[in-house]
This record gives sequence, C-alpha cells and structure tokens, in this order.
Amino acid sequence: MNPLTQRIQNIFPEGNAIPEAFRLQEPLHQREMLINGEMVPWNGTVQEVHSPVFVKNDQGLERLLIGSYPLAGQAEADAALEAAVQAFDNGRGEWPTMPISERIACMDKFTGRMIEMKDEIVRLLMYEIGKSLADSTKEFDRTVEYIYDTIDMLKDLDRNSSRFRIEQGIIGQIRRSPLGVVLCMGPFNYPLNETYTTLIPALLMGNTMLFKPPKHGTLLHYPMLKAFQECFPKGVLNTLYGRGSTVVPALMESGKINVLTLIGSSRVANDLKKLHPKVNRLRAVLGLDAKNLGIVLEDADIDLAVKECILGTLSFNGQRCTAVKILMVHENIAPVFIEKFSAAVNALPFGMPWEKGVTITPLPEPNKPAYLADLVADAEKHGASVQNEGGGSSYESFYFPAVLYPVNDKMKIYREEQFGPVIPIASFKNIEEPIQYMIDSPHGQQVSIFGRNTDEIAHLVDQLVNLVSRVNINAQCQRGPDTFPFTGRKDSAEGTLSVEDAIRSFSIRTVVSTKETEENKDILNEIIENHKSQFLSTKFIF
Ligand code: G3H
Repeated sequence: MNPLTQRIQNIFPEGNAIPEAFRLQEPLHQREMLINGEMVPWNGTVQEVHSPVFVKNDQGLERLLIGSYPLAGQAEADAALEAAVQAFDNGRGEWPTMPISERIACMDKFTGRMIEMKDEIVRLLMYEIGKSLADSTKEFDRTVEYIYDTIDMLKDLDRNSSRFRIEQGIIGQIRRSPLGVVLCMGPFNYPLNETYTTLIPALLMGNTMLFKPPKHGTLLHYPMLKAFQECFPKGVLNTLYGRGSTVVPALMESGKINVLTLIGSSRVANDLKKLHPKVNRLRAVLGLDAKNLGIVLEDADIDLAVKECILGTLSFNGQRCTAVKILMVHENIAPVFIEKFSAAVNALPFGMPWEKGVTITPLPEPNKPAYLADLVADAEKHGASVQNEGGGSSYESFYFPAVLYPVNDKMKIYREEQFGPVIPIASFKNIEEPIQYMIDSPHGQQVSIFGRNTDEIAHLVDQLVNLVSRVNINAQCQRGPDTFPFTGRKDSAEGTLSVEDAIRSFSIRTVVSTKETEENKDILNEIIENHKSQFLSTKFIF
C-alpha cells in the first residue's frame, strides 16, 4: 500500500482519540418542534443523524451517531402552515403590522441569543456536515455579520421611506410591505448561512415563516428554536420536520404559500412551483444548480491561476454552488498547468474537520463517494485519466480529490454538477470553445477568467456578462462579499440575493396617495402628528 492510500485508510480516529476540546459530548436527541409559539413535543418516528466522521471502536468502523430529530408528518406540517397563516392574518397580524424599529429589536435580541450559543452551533455544524472547524466558525460569523448588515440596510430603507413625495399634484408615501407566508428551505452545504440569508430578511420584512431545516445540517438549528420562540410573536416562525418530498407538496397545493425560497436544485424548485394552484401569486427566490467554468488563458499567471482554482474547486470539498466545476485551459499551457495543479491538490491537508489547517474532509451525503467514483469511471471510459497520484481513492465517507484530463463532451462530468472533489479539465485552442461551452450550458451563475492580455479579457468579459451573472478576473468564483448581488441565469437562480436585494425580494412596494388638496393635507397631517398609522408616518429610525 502506498503511503497516501495508507493515510487515507487510517483517516478516521478511535472514538476516544478525538481531542477533548473538539468532542461532541452527548448526542442531541431533538423531540420537539416550534409550531405556533409552542415547543410541541414529539413521540413519533425520528431520523437518526450520523456524522460523516467515522470512529473506530470494538465493532470496527462506525459513523458517529450525533443525535436524532422528529420525522413529523402532514398533520404537523399543516399545523405549521395554519399557524403562519394566522400569524400573518392577511397582513393584519401583530408581526406584519409591527413598527420596523420593534421588529429590529426582536431580531437584535435573537442575534444576541444566537451569539451566546456559538460554540454549540459551530460544533454541530462541523459534525453534521464535516465542514472544517475554521470554515464552520467562519460560516457562523459571516451569518451574524449578515444579520447586522441586513438590519442596517433596513434602517436605511426605512429612513428613505419616512417622507412623502409630491408629483403631478399627487402626494404619496411609498414603503415596502411584507408578502405573506414564506416557505424557506436551505441547503446542506451552508445550512446556517445560506438558510439565514433568506430567512432573516424575510422575517425582518414582516412575513411569517415555515422553515424547513436542510436534510444534513438539521440539528444545529435546534438550539435556536427556543430563541425564536422567546424573541418573536407566536406563529411568526414555524418549523417543518420530516421528509420534504412527503410534507411540502401539500403545502404548495394549499395555495397559502406566498413565497417559496429555496437553495437547492432547479428540478425540485420547478416541481414545487407547479404545484401552486395560482403560480402568479407565488414569488420565488431561488439559488439553484451551477456549473461554473474556469478559463485559463495562454498568458495566465499559472501559479496564481492554480492557487485560485484550488480555492474555487476544492473549498469545502467542492460542495459550494459557486465552486468552479470545470476548467478549460489553453492547450499550450495545459501540461504545465495540470502538473502544478495536481501537485497543489496533493499538497492539501486532509483529515478530520477539527484538525488545524485541514482542507479536504469527509463528505456528508452517504452516496456521494460512489457517485463521484461513477463519474470518474465514466470519464475514463471516454478517454480521460486521473492526473494526480491517489486521486479518486476513497474510504467510507472520505474521497480524495481526483483531477481528470482530458475531459470532453461525451463524459457525464462535462455537464453534471458534481458538487464534490472531482475536477474535470479540458483544453482549448480557440477562445470560442469556452464561450460556446457557456452558451450550451443549462447553467449561468459565474465564470472565472485567468489571464493578462487585456484585449482577450475584455472580449471574454463582454461575451460572458450576458451568459452568467458574475465574471471573476484572476479570482475564483464566489458569492461574497454579501453586499454584491448573488444570482444566476438559466437554471441557476431566480431573483437576486444580497444584503440589499434580499430585503427587496421578500417585500413589495406599496403606496398610499392622495390628491394635493388642503383637506387631504390636513388629513395626512393629523394622522402623522398624532401617530395614528404605522404606514403613514414620518418617524425616523436612528
Ligand atoms: O453554495 C453556495 C454559496 O453561496 C457559496 O458561497 O461563494 O461564499 O462560498 P461562497
């Protein structure tokens, strides 16, 4: 056995060899869910949660059991929907009519509680999805920052709405109003951050929520349910536990969901949208599939391109919607690029998520290693080979990254979103080839261009900006900073997310207006001076 294979075979620790500081003390067995302001007890079937981390014990190698959660059914989902509908009460509920300053106070209180639970949440995140401790901590901190930035943005928006406009003899006040009941489902790869980048702005705008935690990354939300219960009025946030495919269709068919927000696959999003009896009443805010392309031009700084492509393809084992999922390299530099890239892949620290500096960690989806192996076998059948030593070796949930070259359009990996550590590389001669790849792609999220020739870069930028939503120059694809618009074309997204855009996505502009007569002015003045309305108001949030 070569040393690399040997290291992979020994990657999982003895149960008692996990350093004390990083252990999960007790499995977390959740037996309640938040519906209509109550922590409703659950005595029915549960879903066990096993970590992607295996441990060696007397029986051999076992996935670490980290807890369990309710596998609730339709009755609980219907109760959650009813609670959200009641709490919204056609826009007349306590939450949608609450002054923004008070909604912000609820969110501030919640965020304070969340920060107190940081260690517990980060640890659950690490054990549930195998994300490194450093990245799990980053995900937590980024989420808190996102909440505070959203609050600041909302204050700004409200300040701008605290005035009247007079145009063509019409006086009007324009504000953003909530949309109603929002069904929010997040992804397993950023179960906290990506879920909250939709949930938090939707809540702050006065909507009421049905929140379904992701399939992996479920337990980490449990500690926060109590905080939701204590910081928000009843029925404002209701949880859905259970299989999405069982409980969600009926919710959509009820016609009572006003907004579907989902970070997941376009197939699921399409299927769910079609179930709504009046699609025109449904707003969708979606982050979907992507197959971002990295283009390495002939004159690229190869070391820089390798560094960024490593980050782009392999951060969190390539399990990011924004990951670079295929590389096209100019044929004249392909051999040297592949040699340097493969060496850089093999130099990445791998191991358990709590280990310092670790990059490649076990995968949370049980079938993923087999799926990736199938992609590699298919590519090999059509003429590619694994370029890095040990690439594609796997052991239980761990999969060592495989660099594939030369990749062509007969291979599944050419189009399929692998969402894992397999990096397909193709070479090109003519710049039209990568452009054509994006034209033919069902996806349109981002591309990265690596090069120095400004004529060539400018030409590519102008071609690609109408095919994708972000073009990165000499940098990996990414979502951040969170103030930048995050969206995509074709099957990659619907709506735009960012601190500012999300606030808009989960609300609708509403106007109250009157003709500019003396009597109407007196009416408005009296309402405002005596603080008779929440909407018609010139109050300013400081
Ligand atoms: O999974 C998709 C995430 O939005 C990626 O965010 O580019 O900041 O890692 P990121």
